[in-house]
Order: sequence, then structure tokens, then C-alpha cells
Amino acid sequence: MPGTTHVARAVTERGEVVLLRRQRDGALELRVNGVFVMDTVETATERLLARTTLNRLHARWQGRPREPLRVLIGGLGLGFTLDEVLRDAAVTEVLVIEIEAALVDWHRDGLIPPTSGAGADPRVRVVVGDVAELIETVPPGSVDALLLDVDNGPGFLVYDANAAVYRAPFLRACRRATTPGGVTAVWSSSPSAELSAVMTAVFDGVEELAVPVLLGARETTYHLFLGRRSDAASDTVKP
Ligand SMILES: C[S@@+](CC[C@H](N)C(=O)[O-])C[C@H]1O[C@@H](n2cnc3c(N)ncnc32)[C@H](O)[C@@H]1O
Repeated sequence: MPGTTHVARAVTERGEVVLLRRQRDGALELRVNGVFVMDTVETATERLLARTTLNRLHARWQGRPREPLRVLIGGLGLGFTLDEVLRDAAVTEVLVIEIEAALVDWHRDGLIPPTSGAGADPRVRVVVGDVAELIETVPPGSVDALLLDVDNGPGFLVYDANAAVYRAPFLRACRRATTPGGVTAVWSSSPSAELSAVMTAVFDGVEELAVPVLLGARETTYHLFLGRRSDAASDTVKP
């Protein structure tokens, strides 16, 4: 890539994952198979994915004692969602599922300074694997917040197999993994009527947020979809 230097590179069965440093502003960029995934400059919505979801959980405590929060993150990326989760003192456990082992190593090796240290926090456990498969190993009702940012959203997949992450069977498994009142949140670079409909079918309450962002000089909007499991919900699928 012109105007960038390679910081690290890995080739996996899914293709090439690269960490680049931009010469013009010194920012780090994550690219997968040549597709821009994110950088260390515009990270507001990665943080908001965590902050908004945790705020919804804090709101449910009104007048009641605070409870420890357990969080699952699908997709470590450059670690901003994780870093935001760890700023919340109520969070006691975070399970991160990341498909690229190399990315986990790069964090461990200190190659991503803005979020360095997050992976070493004693509350964090990182597992290398596909969240679409590993969700089945998560005990039912064991997670308060389930944060998914594995792609550029359902309309712009980095890996074709990730289409499953935006479909009902996987989202039902997410709902099952959450506690009553728990929230599953999905990041997307674009609006999606299909995802909206699936979330509405699977969850008991759905909220969509459109967040304006500035990418260099270009204005755009990113989207968060939040699905809540009702307080009284059993583990059965919503009728
Ligand atoms: C957009 S980045 C995540 C950004 C992250 N929210 C942050 O704050 O830096 C997407 C991440 O998900 C990972 N990923 C992609 N597909 C996955 C899957 N099916 N299961 C787990 N991780 C996946 C990618 O390797 C990448 O690290």
C-alpha cells in the first residue's frame, strides 16, 4: 500500500491480515485481504458499541444493587471495544473470541500501543476461534453483554462465512447465552433492513442507533443494533 509501512503480516486459511502504519498521520490500519477494516483514528463507534450496551445494563439497576457484569466480545480487532469494556469497574469477566491468532499475538507483542495492556487485564480471557461456532460452547444465561464486531457489517463482509453472524440461528444462540435482561449488540457500517428484521424476530426489544462519523474529510454513518432479552425470558426461542 503506498504511503504505508508494514508493521506485521500473517497469511491464514482465510487470506492475508496486515497491520500497516500510515505515513501521513502515524495511525495504524488493519486490512484483511486488501479490505480496510479499521484504523486507530476513528474508533468512536467501536467504543460506543461497548459503552451504549453497558449503559443499558446499568440503567436496569436503577434502585437495585449493582451486579457484576460479564461480557463476550466477538472480534478483537485493534482492541478499542475491549478497552472501553475494561473502563467499566462493574465488569468482572470478559471473554474475547478472535478468529486470527496472529492478531492476538500482535496485541501480546505490544504492536498496537493505543490499547496495549487490555489483553493483559486479569478480567480478560482470549480464545482463538470463530464466534459463530464457539457461541454454542457458551453456557446459557452466562453473559450480560454480547458485543459483535467481526466485519464491516452484513452488507460488506470481510469473510463470506460471517454472513451466518447476521442470521437468526446464530443470533438466537447469542440470546440464549445472555442473562435475562442481557443485551446483544451488533456493529455495522451500513443500515440493514434484513438485520433489523432478524433482530426483531429473535430478541424481545430492539434498538437501532445511527452514529455520524468522520473518516478523514468524508462524513458517513455507522450503525449499532441492540437486541435485549426480556427480564422474564426463559431459554426458549421467542415465539
Ligand atoms: C472490525 S474488527 C473489530 C474491531 C474491534 N471492535 C475494535 O474495537 O478494535 C473485526 C475483528 O473480528 C475478527 N473476526 C472476523 N471474523 C470473525 C469470526 N467469525 N469470529 C471471531 N472473530 C472474527 C477479525 O479478525 C477482526 O479482528
